[in-house]
Amino acid sequence: MEKSKISVKQKIGETKGNSQVKGVELNVYSYFKATPAALRRSFDALMKDKLQGFVGRQFVFDALDDFLHSHDSGYFILRGVPGIGKSAFMAKLVNERGYIHHFNVVSQNIRGTRTFLENVIAQLIACYDLPYEELPPRALDDSGFLMQCLNEAAATYKSSEERIVIAIDALDEADRLGLAAAVNMLYLPATLPKGVYIIVTTRPLDDMRLQTMQQQILDLEADSEGNLQDITTYIETYIQREGMQKRLAVWGVSGAQFVAGLRKKSQGNFMYLYCVLPAIEHGEFVNGTLDELPDGLMAYYQRHWRQMREGNKTEFDTVYEPIVCILGVAQEPVTVQQISNWTKLNQGQVKENIRRWREFLEEEQTKSERKYRIYHASFQDFLREQVDLVRYDDMIADYYLELAGFSE
Ligand SMILES: Nc1ncnc2c1ncn2[C@@H]1O[C@H](COP(=O)(O)OP(=O)(O)OP(=O)(O)O)[C@@H](O)[C@H]1O
Ligand SMILES: [Mg+2]
Repeated sequence: MEKSKISVKQKIGETKGNSQVKGVELNVYSYFKATPAALRRSFDALMKDKLQGFVGRQFVFDALDDFLHSHDSGYFILRGVPGIGKSAFMAKLVNERGYIHHFNVVSQNIRGTRTFLENVIAQLIACYDLPYEELPPRALDDSGFLMQCLNEAAATYKSSEERIVIAIDALDEADRLGLAAAVNMLYLPATLPKGVYIIVTTRPLDDMRLQTMQQQILDLEADSEGNLQDITTYIETYIQREGMQKRLAVWGVSGAQFVAGLRKKSQGNFMYLYCVLPAIEHGEFVNGTLDELPDGLMAYYQRHWRQMREGNKTEFDTVYEPIVCILGVAQEPVTVQQISNWTKLNQGQVKENIRRWREFLEEEQTKSERKYRIYHASFQDFLREQVDLVRYDDMIADYYLELAGFSE
């Protein structure tokens, strides 16, 4: 599949929390479309976010290309711990190569099998000019129609060099509910037609629920040479910023010392750097020593949690914690009004205090409203370990029961 002439390039301003304004350009492919059009999911916002400051990953591209060249078809699975950079790699891959794609995102409730099938099938139809204007009835009930489309798309090949590649991010976030024991996640077919490849990312799971005839797993190891090299490049690039140069001077450490120290503290995790580097830049670590930095991502979240709690214990228990925990269990981005309804805090309190969690949240501005969700799933993992979140699930359920007139 060739990249069509890049007709348009979009440029957006960076909007996220702490980092400086940086433009991210997305390639616009003529075949980033779908038939029927309404069925294509746009992941542009997610991709732009993940591509900010992207570095490296050549070794992953190389391993993937080896696989594509040495196999007729099959699954390439990129596996790694939360925050190591799987989704960012997928964003880069899709943006560079224009592959058909789907990102599972639990916090946006994009996790269903039918959602996946309709998005990918609609892209296949548009991309390979398949003769369907509507999806046939029952097209999303099993993998039959997906296979039919893959076969028909493969039949359009003019040379054996052509490939159909589908990129699927976060298989671990996809829905398992109601899936029969022998069925693959997302109804992914066990065998693929010649020339068809599926690239999947996942966290390490005891049971990935993906039985296939042909697959290769690449473990993105935190302490591998390739990963540490990319981590190093990221830190080296970041410390060129004026604010960081000043900070390093105050800390009295050389660039090389800082890079080596932070690389160790990060435990090879990109999400750690994404959180900690801006925090350092903004002077949140007051002692100014490398020892002060938390060891690993969970320790960073823990530190922030502790500081918030020590700041004001009563407010923490009655306001800060409920707000962030409700966001932790929400199935999709939510408004201040919803948080207020569920927690019974007034909207003013929610608005004022949501800012305290800003660095862990993603804000979405639609035409009519502003919505919030937890930025990274690893923070949800942390919350789950920290607090009994069932209480907050119950809070939401109680609200709707009351609305329906079932209150005691
Ligand atoms: N190669 C990279 N260059 C620059 N930044 C990166 C890179 N990889 C990841 N990041 C940044 O680190 C953060 C975490 O990465 P990402 O979301 O891709 O992790 P993940 O492996 O998908 O985690 P999870 O399993 O929780 O989904 C992202 O916000 C991303 O912007
Ligand atoms: Mg991810």
